[in-house]
Amino acid sequence: MEEKKYSITIAGGGSTFTPGICLLLLEHMDRFPIRKIQFYDNFKERQETIAKACEIYLKENAPEVEFGYTTDPETAFTDVDFVMCHIRVGLYAMREKDEKIPLKYGVVGQETCGPGGLAYGMRSIGGVIEILDYMEKYSPNAWMLNYSNPAAIVAEATRRLRPDSKILNICDMPIDLEEKMASMIGLSSRKELDVGYYGLNHFGWWHSIKDQNGNDLMPEIKKHVAANGFADALSKTNQHVEQSWIETFSKAKDVYALDPDTIPNTYLKYYLYPDYVVEHSDPNHTRANEVMEHREKNIFTICQNIIDKGTAKDGGFEPDAHAEYIVDLACALATNTKEKFLLIVPNEGAVENFDRTAMVEIPCYVGINGYERVVQGAIPQFQKGLMEQQVSVEKLVVEAWIEGSYQKMWQAMTLSKIVPSAKVAKQILDEMIEANKDFWPELK
Ligand code: NAD
Ligand code: G6P
Ligand code: MN
Repeated sequence: MEEKKYSITIAGGGSTFTPGICLLLLEHMDRFPIRKIQFYDNFKERQETIAKACEIYLKENAPEVEFGYTTDPETAFTDVDFVMCHIRVGLYAMREKDEKIPLKYGVVGQETCGPGGLAYGMRSIGGVIEILDYMEKYSPNAWMLNYSNPAAIVAEATRRLRPDSKILNICDMPIDLEEKMASMIGLSSRKELDVGYYGLNHFGWWHSIKDQNGNDLMPEIKKHVAANGFADALSKTNQHVEQSWIETFSKAKDVYALDPDTIPNTYLKYYLYPDYVVEHSDPNHTRANEVMEHREKNIFTICQNIIDKGTAKDGGFEPDAHAEYIVDLACALATNTKEKFLLIVPNEGAVENFDRTAMVEIPCYVGINGYERVVQGAIPQFQKGLMEQQVSVEKLVVEAWIEGSYQKMWQAMTLSKIVPSAKVAKQILDEMIEANKDFWPELK
C-alpha cells in the first residue's frame, strides 16, 4: 500500500511562528509525511513576506512538497487533512492595547489573563469560527489543531457554537513546564513523565507526576519549585528566554507556596499576585513591545534577507523545536498513536466536582477518532473556587459575544479576579470597546 501523505494548511500564514513550524514539519517527515503545505492569512502583504521566504527554503530543502499561499478561503481549505491555526486578530498593535489599557487603571495588562485576555477573546472568536467553517465547507474530514489565543475563550466559543466540529485546542505552556520539570530532575524529556493535571487553560495544576514505572516524582520536583519556581531548568529551546519570562518562571515559587500539594501553571501569578505584577510592569513598555522589537522584527528581517538573496542556504531559519507537540498531535490523529496530551476539552465529569460543561485542560489520549479524557477525580476547594470564578468569566465573554451583550461583558470584567470593582471594570470595558470597534461585535 502506498504511504499516506498529508496536506496541511497553516492558518495565520503571516504569524511569527509559521517559519519555525514549517521547518519543524519538514524535519519530521519520516513519521508524518507531507505532500502539500499551504498558508492562509487575511493580511496579504504580511503573509507574502513569510511565504516567499518559506517557498525558497522549501524549494531548496523539500522540492517534493507542493507549496502555496493565498488569501482565498476556497483555495486554502480545499483538499486539506490538517489545519494548524494560529491567528492573532488585531495583530500585536491590539495586544499592546490589551496590555496597556488595564495598566492605566492599575490592573494587570496581559495577553490572555484579565481584561486584556477578555478583549482578545472578543476579537478571536469570530476569526477562529470563520476558519473552522471554511475548513468544514471545503474539507469536511479535516482536523483543526488550534492554538490561537486566548485558547480558553476560543475553546468555549467552539463548544457553544460548533459542538460537533473536529477541532482540538491545545496550549504549549504545560509542555514547556513539563520539559523544565523533567530537566530539573535529570530526565531527558517530558515524555518520561506521566502526569495528572486539571484546570482551565492558563489556569491549572499538576497533582501527580510519575515516571513510566509508576514512581512518584512530585517530591523531587517540588524541592526545585519550592526553591526557585521553574528557573532551575531554563529552556533548551529559544522560546521564553527573555528576562520577563525568566521572572515569570521564578515567581512560580510564590504561586507554589500557596498550595504545596500541587505544582502550578505559571499563568496563575497574574491572578494570585496581581499587585506584584502591576508593580513590576512598565505601563509604557509591555510584553507586546518586547515581542515587536525582538521576535517579530527578527523573523521579518530574516525572511526579507532570504527573499533578497534568493536563497535560504546562509541560514537564518530554524525549526521551532518547542512546537514539536503539534507534530505529535497530528501524528496521533493520523496514525492512532494514542499518545497523551493536555487538551482543552468539555469536562463531562473528568473533573468530578466541577461544571460538566466547562472547557477544562486535562490529559487525554489522542488517536484516529479524536480524544479520550483521562478522569482526574475530585479537586480541592481552593482550586475549585478559583476555577468556578474563572470559568464563569470565560463563559460570560462568550455569551456577551453571541448575544452582543454589554451587560454580560461588564459582568465578565467585574468577575475577573484581577479586577478590583465593577466601577474599574466599567472604565476598562468602555475604553476597550472604543479601542476594539473594528473587531468586536456591537455591544448593547
Ligand atoms: P502574529 O500576529 O505574528 O500572526 C498572526 C497572523 O494571523 C497574522 O499574520 C494575521 O494577519 C493573521 N490573522 C489575524 N486574523 C486573521 C483571520 N481572521 N484570518 C486569517 N488570518 C488572520 O501572531 P503570533 O505571535 O505569531 O501568534 C499567533 C497566535 O498563536 C496568537 O493567537 C498567539 O496567542 C498564539 N499562540 C498560542 C500558543 C498556545 O500556547 N496556545 C503559543 C504561542 C502562540
Ligand atoms: C506561552 C503561552 C501562549 C502565549 C505565549 C506568549 O507559550 O502558552 O499561549 O501566547 O506564551 O509568549 P510571548 O512570547 O508572545 O509573550
Ligand atoms: Mn498558551
